[in-house]
Amino acid sequence: MKAAEIRSTFLNFFESKGHQIVASSPVVPGDDPTLLFTNAGMNQFKDVFLGFDKRPYTRAATAQKCIRAGGKHNDLENVGYTARHHTFFEMLGNFSFGDYFKQDAIKYAWELLTEVFKLPKDKLWATVYAEDDEAYDIWTNQIGLPAERVIRIGDNKGSRYASDNFWMMGDTGPCGPCSEIFYDFGPDVAGGPPGSPDEDGDRYTEVWNNVFMQFNRRVDENGNYVMDLLPKPSVDTGMGLERLTRVLQNVPTNYDIDLFVNLMAAARREVEAAGGDNVDKDSPSLKAIADHIRACSFTVADGVVPSNEGRGYVLRRIARRAIRHGYKLGARTPFFYKLVDALTREMGKAYPELEAKQRRITEVLKQEEERFFQTIANGMEILEAALVDLGADKVLDGELAFKLHDTYGFPLDLTADVLRERGLSVDEAGFNAAMTRQREQARAAGKFKMAQGLDYKGTATTFQGYEKLMVEDAKVTGLYVDGSPVEVIRAGEDAVVVLDNTPFYAESGGQSGDCGVLINGKAGFTVDDTFKIQADVFGHLGRVLEGEIRIGDTIDARVRGVQRAATARNHSATHLMHKALREVLGNHVQQKGSLVDVDKTRFDFAHNAPMTDEEILKVEQIVNREILTNAATQARVMGIEDAQQTGAMMLFGEKYGDSVRVLDIGSSRELCGGTHVSRTGDIGFFKIVMEGGVAAGVRRVEAVTGENAMNLILEREALLESVAAQLKTPVADVPAKLAQTQEHVKALEKELAALKGKLASSQSDALAEQAIDVNGIKVLAATLDGADVPALREAVDKLRDKLGTAAVVLAAVADGKVSLIAGVTANLTGKVKAGELVNMVAQQVGGKGGGRPDMAQAGGTNPATLPAALASVGAWVSARL
Ligand code: ALA
Repeated sequence: MKAAEIRSTFLNFFESKGHQIVASSPVVPGDDPTLLFTNAGMNQFKDVFLGFDKRPYTRAATAQKCIRAGGKHNDLENVGYTARHHTFFEMLGNFSFGDYFKQDAIKYAWELLTEVFKLPKDKLWATVYAEDDEAYDIWTNQIGLPAERVIRIGDNKGSRYASDNFWMMGDTGPCGPCSEIFYDFGPDVAGGPPGSPDEDGDRYTEVWNNVFMQFNRRVDENGNYVMDLLPKPSVDTGMGLERLTRVLQNVPTNYDIDLFVNLMAAARREVEAAGGDNVDKDSPSLKAIADHIRACSFTVADGVVPSNEGRGYVLRRIARRAIRHGYKLGARTPFFYKLVDALTREMGKAYPELEAKQRRITEVLKQEEERFFQTIANGMEILEAALVDLGADKVLDGELAFKLHDTYGFPLDLTADVLRERGLSVDEAGFNAAMTRQREQARAAGKFKMAQGLDYKGTATTFQGYEKLMVEDAKVTGLYVDGSPVEVIRAGEDAVVVLDNTPFYAESGGQSGDCGVLINGKAGFTVDDTFKIQADVFGHLGRVLEGEIRIGDTIDARVRGVQRAATARNHSATHLMHKALREVLGNHVQQKGSLVDVDKTRFDFAHNAPMTDEEILKVEQIVNREILTNAATQARVMGIEDAQQTGAMMLFGEKYGDSVRVLDIGSSRELCGGTHVSRTGDIGFFKIVMEGGVAAGVRRVEAVTGENAMNLILEREALLESVAAQLKTPVADVPAKLAQTQEHVKALEKELAALKGKLASSQSDALAEQAIDVNGIKVLAATLDGADVPALREAVDKLRDKLGTAAVVLAAVADGKVSLIAGVTANLTGKVKAGELVNMVAQQVGGKGGGRPDMAQAGGTNPATLPAALASVGAWVSARL
C-alpha cells in the first residue's frame, strides 16, 4: 500500500464510523498565540474541546500537517539519527467531541490496525497511563491483549514516557491521559519495550496515540497552573502516517517509504551536483535534508519567512541545519532550494498549496541558502579549529558558540549537531549567558531610546497592580515603534503599548518593571518590561506575537504572577533587611541605592567597614525571624506630614509627592510605592549571598528569597554531602577531617622536599665523576632524571663547588620539554660564559635562553637531540680556552 492509499484508507474507515472528514489546517495556527506551529491534529479543534466552539458534527477525522521543531514538542535534534523522527509529518487522527470515549476509541484503533491494515496482533503492544485502570481493563479484558504487553506508564521518572502518557499540546490547553500503541519490529532492531531502559531504540515504535481528553490546563489569576474539567470527556488520537507506512511497507526506516524514495534520491543528486562526492544513499545527512525540505516548504507555504524571531527563527534553524548537512557531504553551492521541485511532485496532489506557492517557496529558500553560504565556510573553519583544542571535558565554550551564532549565523542546535556527530557537546548555559548579556545591552539601549523619544499627550495610566494581576478590557491609548507613534502594530513588531489602566508595575523605586501578556481575541503581545514614559504614563515594552493591535482597541492585561511574586518577595525582604542592617551595624546605615528584580535584591548602603561573618549571620537571623512572624503587610496612603509623624523611614534626598504610601512590613516602616508580599511569611526564606564594597564608605549586599534561597541552601547541602562522602566522614566531622588532611599533605610535602634534596645530592656525587678534563678544566654535561628547575639549579651549584674550576650543564626532560641550567665557576667566566653556553645547547634542542655569566637557564622542545647537544659541550668549551 502506498502512503497515499494508507491516508485515504484511514479517512474512509472513520467516515464509515460516522466521522466527518475535515481538511488539514495550516501548519501556522491562525489564532493561537500559545502555539508556535501546529503540533497535532487536535489543534484546530482546541476550542471545540473547550466548549467555546460548536460544530455540526461530534466526530471528525483528519490527515493533519504537523511540525515538531520548537515549543513543547520538538524532535529536531533526533532527525537523521533515528528511523522514526521528523520535523514535519502527517498525523492521521480521529476525534470525538463529547461523543464516544475510551472504549470505542481503543476498539476503532484495534479494528483498523488488525482487520483493515491486517497487522499481526502479536506484534502490537499498548501503554496506558499508570492510574488508568479503565483503559487497562479495556486492553486486557475486552481486546484481549496479553497483560505482559500492556504497560502502565506514569510517574516512573527517567522514562521518556513519564509525561508522554499524559498528553498536552502545550503548557496550557486541553489535555488528558493517553494510551499508546506500539509496533514491535522484531529482535533484529535494537531497542526495548516502552518503560524499559532501552525504550529509545527503534525496535518498539509508537504508531498511534489515543488521548482521553478530560482537562483544560490554564494559568489562573495568581499565575499558577490549574486544571479544569472539560465540559465533556472527549477523544483525540494521532497516528504518524510515515511510521504506519514504514510498518505496512516493511522497510527499515521512515525514509525508505515510497513518500521519501524520490526525495532522498533528489537530495543525493543535488548535493552531488553542488560538489558532494559519492554520497552514501542512506547517509543520515540525506535523511535530515529530505526531512527538512518538507518542514521548510510547508512553513513557507503557510506564510513564514526566515528571521531571527519566533516562527521565522524555527524555519531558519531547520533550513540551516539542512544546509550544514549538505555542506558536510561536500556541497559548496546552494542545493537545498532545488529540492522544492521534487517535493512538489511528491506531495503537491495531496497538498495543493505546494503547487500554488512553489515559486515563492523556492525563492525564499534560495535567498536564505545564498545568505548562509556566505558565512558557513568561515564558521565551520572556526568551529573545526576550536574542536582541535577542545579539552578533556569535550565541551565547546559557550562564548564561542555564541560568536558562531552572532557572527556566522550558526543556530545553537546546528553547532550542537556538529558536536554530537563527534561525541562532543556545547556549554549551553554559557551560550545563553552570552545571549542574555547581548539582549540586555540591546534592550537597555532600545529602552533608553524609546523612553527619550516618546511624545504622548493622551490620558494617564491608572495603576491597579496593588490589588490585581489582571485588568480586563484596558484601552490602548498609545502605540510606539522605534520611538515613533503609530496607529497599529502587527505580529513580529517590537513596540511600546500605553494603556489607560494596567496591573503592570512600571520600573521605579529600584523595583524592576513587570512582564506578562496583553491579549484579546485577535492579538497577543508579550510584555518584557514596563517603564514610565511620563510620571503617570506606563509603557509596556515587548513584541506582538499574534494578530494586530490598534489605538482604541481593548485588551486584557495580565501580569506574569510567578515573576511578580518573586519580585515582591525580594522587595519586601529589602525593607526587612534595611531595618536589620540598622539594628546590627547602627543607625548610620542609609540606603544609597537598590535594585530589586525577579532573581535577587541588591542593596547599597553607607557603612565604613566590611561586614563580618557574624554581622551577616545576625542580619539573616533577624530577617528570617520576621518572616516567621508571618505578619500582615499594611499599606496606607496619607499626606507627607502625617507620614513623617508615623516615623516611617524616609530616604534622604528623595523627592516625595504630597501624598505618599506608608508601608508596614513586619516591624519595618518605609515610604514605598512598590509591590509587596501580603504577609512576611510569603518571603519563605532569606539568605545573603554577597557582601562587598562599591565606593568609599558604601557597601553592597545581595540577597535571595523564596525558591532561590531554598535552592541555594539545598545545593550547598548537597555539595557538603558530596565533600563529606569524598572525605569518607560524616558531615559534622568535615572540618576536622580537612584540617587533618591538610596537615598530612604538609608533612608529605616536607618529606618529599627532603627526599628530593637527598636524591639530587647523591646524583650529583655520581655526576661529578662523569666530568671530563678539558685543558685542566672540569667540564660536565649530563641529564638529571626527574629534576625540576630548582633541583637542577641546586645540583649545578653543588657540582660547581665540588669540581673546582668548572663549566657544568645539566638537563632534565619532562612532558616532552627540555629544561637546561648552566653554571660556570667565577674564575672562568672571563672566557666561558654560562649564558652563551646554555644558549648553545638550547639552540640544538629547539629553544633558547640566557642569563648571568656564572648561572643561566634555558628550555627546548626537542628532547631527541639532547644527547648530541650535551656531547658538543666539551669541544665548545675547549674552543674558548
Ligand atoms: N494529540 C495526540 C498526539 O499528538 C494524539 O500524540
